[in-house]
Order: sequence, then C-alpha cells, then structure tokens
Amino acid sequence: MSNYPHLFAPLDLPGLSLANRITMAPLYLGYARANGLVNRRLKEHYQEAGASGAGMIMVESASVHPRGAGTPYTLRADHDEFIEGLAELASLIQAGGAKAGLQINHAGRFAHHGGVPLAPSEVPAGGLDPMPMSRRQIHEVAEFFQEAAWRVQKAGFDLVELHGGTGYLLSEFLSPHTNRREDQYGGSLENRLRFPLEVIAAVRHAVGPDYPIGYRFLADEWLPQGFQLEEAVIAAPRLAAAGLSYLSVMGGTYESFFLPERVAQEKEPGYMLSLAEAIKKAVDIPVIAAGRIQQPALAEKALAEGQTDLIGLARVLLADPQWPIKAREGREAEIVPCEPSCNLCFKRVGKGLPIFCSQWPKDKREHFATRD
Ligand SMILES: Cc1cc2nc3c(=O)[nH]c(=O)nc-3n(C[C@H](O)[C@H](O)[C@H](O)COP(=O)(O)O)c2cc1C
Repeated sequence: MSNYPHLFAPLDLPGLSLANRITMAPLYLGYARANGLVNRRLKEHYQEAGASGAGMIMVESASVHPRGAGTPYTLRADHDEFIEGLAELASLIQAGGAKAGLQINHAGRFAHHGGVPLAPSEVPAGGLDPMPMSRRQIHEVAEFFQEAAWRVQKAGFDLVELHGGTGYLLSEFLSPHTNRREDQYGGSLENRLRFPLEVIAAVRHAVGPDYPIGYRFLADEWLPQGFQLEEAVIAAPRLAAAGLSYLSVMGGTYESFFLPERVAQEKEPGYMLSLAEAIKKAVDIPVIAAGRIQQPALAEKALAEGQTDLIGLARVLLADPQWPIKAREGREAEIVPCEPSCNLCFKRVGKGLPIFCSQWPKDKREHFATRD
C-alpha cells in the first residue's frame, strides 16, 4: 500500500482508464526537426516518460497548420506525412504502461515564424501585428483542428488534447483583451466561446462519439483587461458540456508570465492549485492541476481535499522522470527536484534551443542539447 492512496488511485473516464492520478503535463522540448518531424531525441524522451509510472503522458503541442506553430521545431499534425512518426511516439509511450495523448494547437498571434500570424483581432504580439481572421479563416482553422485530431487518433494515441492555454489561438478568442471583434465571434462571453465550441464540435465529428478529448484551459490570463477566473467559471461548464473528458487548468500567457509578481508566484509550490479548485467546483468532469507540484505529499493533499482530480507534472517530471516510481515506492527523499529559481528549460525555449534540465547528469544534458 502506497503512502499516497489518492495519488495512486485509478481513474476511469469514458473511453480512458488511468492507472493513477499522475499525468505528464505537455512540455515543448524544441527537439523536433525543423520540418516538425519526429526524431530520435523525441522518441528517447517520450519512451522514458511512458515508463515513468505516470498514468498518462500528454505529448507537447503539435501544430494543426504549418503557419500555426510557435517555433520551427514544433511537432506537426497538419499533414498525413506526420502520422508515422507520431504513431511511433504513441506506441513507445504505451509500451511503458502509460496512456498516450497528443496536444494539438494553433499558436495564433504567437505563431511568429510562418509569416503574418492569424488572430481574432489586430492586437500586436512580439512586435508583429497579427491579421484579424476572416469568417472563412475561422472555419478553415476549425477544419485544421478537425483533421489534426483525426491524425492523432489514426496514429494510435489514446486521446487528443486541445491547447486552449498559454494565450494561443483558442484562448485568444475567449479573451476580451485579444478578441475585439464586433461580429458573432466577439463581444459577449457567449460570442467569445463560439470559436472554441466550434473547434470542439469539429474535433468530435472527426474522432467519433467515444474518443476522449481533453482541453488545456486558460482559467486566468493574469492581465487586468484579460480573461479572468470570474468568466472562466462560467465558460468552463460550457466547454465541458461540449463533450470533453477533462479540463487541464493553467494560468498566464506570454504577456503575463514575465510580470514580476508572476515570476515570484511561479516559484511557489502548487501555485495554480487554486485555479484548478475553482474550475473543479464549476464543472462535473475531472480537472488536472499543474504548477510546481513538487512533493508527492502536496499532490496527495490536493487530491484528498478535492482541489483537483489529477496532477499535472511538467518541469517536475522533466527534472526527475522517476518521480512517480519513487513516490510509489516511498523513496520520495530520492526525488531530484525542479529548482524553482532555474527555469533553464523555459529560457532555452525563448532562445530557440532544444531544452534540457540543469538537474540532469552531464552526459544527458549534452546529449539533449543538440538536435539529431
Ligand atoms: C519549457 C516549457 C514548455 C511548455 N510547453 C507546453 C505545451 O506545449 N503545452 C502546454 O499546454 N503547456 C506547456 N507548458 C506549461 C506546462 O504544461 C505546465 O503547466 C507548467 O510548466 C507548470 O507545471 P510545472 O511547474 O510542473 O512545470 C510548458 C512549460 C514549460 C516550462
């Protein structure tokens, strides 16, 4: 019997049985080839993740369109040629005993490298003025999500997750800060929900009634004029009712991550648990909480107190891919922690470099510092 009965309790969702409550939260690595193809480093990384003892591994965001990627090294799911490599990732993860998911995304106004980025409205990001999307482009992008989700299913993943976080396109439509449209896709919360709901419906159409669809949900942009928790608790049940298996809750965008108060908050253990808790109260589907859930005891407490249904580990699992096994075996003292003041992984993303963790042994750091 583990010291953490809630953490190691299974969870049965429609179409998805998880062995425990530990999930790998998606974490962009920058390993993919510049054309978005799966390569050796990605396979090594996700094979290790699949064998970590986590119940579910969510593979980092893959673009639904060549011009919807945040960087050139983003995985892609926008063409059938990518299915083969993605299928290898899915089976490597499943071979380790975990359920495998792939997150799909359009980076919206942060899709910098493919020309003028698309967005709901012309609110600049990173010095570029994005192009407000026409009604036709809105429908096209929903179709890109639909086709990408079909490829995820075809590749053998157990589920697909829609990236509605980090200030990317889906969240840009929900946000009164980035969505200044005056048509039926902007203005009221009802109108701002229209595009995400259309995308969920399109994806559902592609994958059939029983295939699990998860949603990364930006519950608070942490910006004065942004989408905030007050609206998020109204939006969340609307999204859930469209047929989601869970909401994976997060806060912040590239416009708020670097604000001094957020940099300080981000160092605190469980800093997004309160967001997950608020969303959990508003919906009747499971939620995932992430954000420096470093100690198994903190994860256990959050589950036992009903703040969340599942735990998401991103940097925490990157630092120690044996976290779940060590927690289960009572070897928590051996867990290698993610160092709060480090954020080397995030900094390397900003520089366009493949990431590694400062806590890894030297040979592993050197191996993953170069693309193959
Ligand atoms: C380098 C890096 C890359 C990330 N990439 C993604 C991503 O592709 N999709 C996503 O939804 N979240 C992404 N995140 C957010 C994480 O999933 C997670 O919510 C956050 O890092 C907090 O969890 P942690 O403290 O365990 O890292 C990323 C975070 C980091 C630091």
